[in-house]
Amino acid sequence: MIRSMKWLRNPKFYLPTGTLLLLYLAWQYIPVPVTGQWSEAELALLESLHIENLGAPPPDPGNAVADDPLAAELGHQLFFDTRLSSTGEVSCATCHQPEHSFTDQLALAEGVAVGNRNSMGLAGVAYSPWFFWDGRKDSLWSQALEPLENPAEHNTDRISVLQVVYNDARYRKLYESLFGALPALQDRQRFPEAGSPQHGDHRLQEAWYAMSVEDRHAASQAFANLGKALSAYQRKLMPGAAALDEYLSLALEDGDKRQDAGLGPREVAGLELFIGRASCIDCHNGPLLSNNAFHNTGVLPSPGLLPSQGRAFGLRVARDDPFNCQGAFSDSDPEDCLELRFARGGGDFVGAQRTPSLRNVGLTAPYMHAGQISTLADVVRHYDTAGVAVIGHNEVEPLGLRAVERRQLEAFLRSLDAPLATDARWLQAPE
Ligand code: HEC
Ligand code: HEC
Repeated sequence: MIRSMKWLRNPKFYLPTGTLLLLYLAWQYIPVPVTGQWSEAELALLESLHIENLGAPPPDPGNAVADDPLAAELGHQLFFDTRLSSTGEVSCATCHQPEHSFTDQLALAEGVAVGNRNSMGLAGVAYSPWFFWDGRKDSLWSQALEPLENPAEHNTDRISVLQVVYNDARYRKLYESLFGALPALQDRQRFPEAGSPQHGDHRLQEAWYAMSVEDRHAASQAFANLGKALSAYQRKLMPGAAALDEYLSLALEDGDKRQDAGLGPREVAGLELFIGRASCIDCHNGPLLSNNAFHNTGVLPSPGLLPSQGRAFGLRVARDDPFNCQGAFSDSDPEDCLELRFARGGGDFVGAQRTPSLRNVGLTAPYMHAGQISTLADVVRHYDTAGVAVIGHNEVEPLGLRAVERRQLEAFLRSLDAPLATDARWLQAPE
């Protein structure tokens, strides 16, 4: 056997093999320059990504104080307040940290305990009609109520939260100037110290159901109002213009595939793939690079966790939620709740998660609904391979990208990072 290795030194063998290997490496790694003009169709796609087309956040008819500055003030304080947790250590900002585009750098969020989902960034959060990875909330104000009573997050309950607000003179004044008098929470005949219909702790449920129907309603209404203030604050969190937008401003003027302003040659090639052969734009479109819809992209479950049912589950929960658009605590007319009425769910949406915005995606690792993918390079590889989904079916097809193209896509994704276009005072804890 060893003796026969002589053939390796035979030029008849190594010349063609070596040449083939070199050709393969060249094909994998040498970029094809992007030059010339963007086509009309491409320009239309590019235009749609420009941050200037974002406009003001859509109105939230379910929240009468959505754009009230005083409500944003109250929401800002609540967002950073660790007293709203069972340990006194967790606030919204524990997991939504301004310096990481309101994420936490963890695969699975950690509040009072470790949860089962990756924290979502909040830049531009006001633009979606649905919230959470599986869309189980239909408004930003209603979303805010869940982490407070989630055992892995704040692990508190609505009466405890209201007691904090009631007993803090500053909060109480702000609250009452927005929403009118708080319920008489000091009255121990009527209101317990802690209680919730939702929380898994049965003592909290017993305390809740010992209250009169009217007092329960009043407490849930006040709790919803705090969600409305938290929403008013989060509506201020806006993504800023990134290198992509600088590039688009110039490229849209003359259609030139220039490779200098904002983006270099690698990023421009990545952009061309993103809107072209790699089909990313099918789902990551518009100024936030998200269609806000639900798709199964074959992301594998995180080890030790059950595969997520995704939107198939999320829509059922949203429809049953007493805090949804049609519910008693919403400020909108039930007939205005078109999203909720006409949303599609069911079997087609098994394993479908909400398409996340890619603004600031370089700052929000790890990625996907349970932080399954650590780096952007691996995200691109995930789409390139497009394996079989373990739940539902993967909507994306393998791409067959060359190594250099994967790097170009990754470089393009990094051109979406930018400081938020939000007044600096909202990006830190209040005084
Ligand atoms: C323990 C960490 C943690 C805390 C504390 C926390 N969150 Fe989150 N947040 C998450 C995770 C994880 C998700 C995604 C969960 C899911 O989809 O099931 C999320 C999702 C969200 C979303 C949905 C974003 C979108 O685009 O759909 C909003 C808004 C949000 N959180 C706001 C808040 C607010 C307001 C608070 C405080 C009241 C808060 N969060 C507290 C971890 C946390
Ligand atoms: C069929 C719709 C669809 C297509 C096509 C698509 N994506 Fe996604 N993308 C999603 C969804 C849905 C998620 C969240 C998946 C999950 O967590 O299970 C996601 C997640 C991501 C993330 C992670 C973001 C985060 O904050 O966790 C990145 C980065 C990303 N996609 C980039 C791309 C790129 C690059 C392409 C093109 C190669 C692409 N996507 C094509 C729908 C799509």
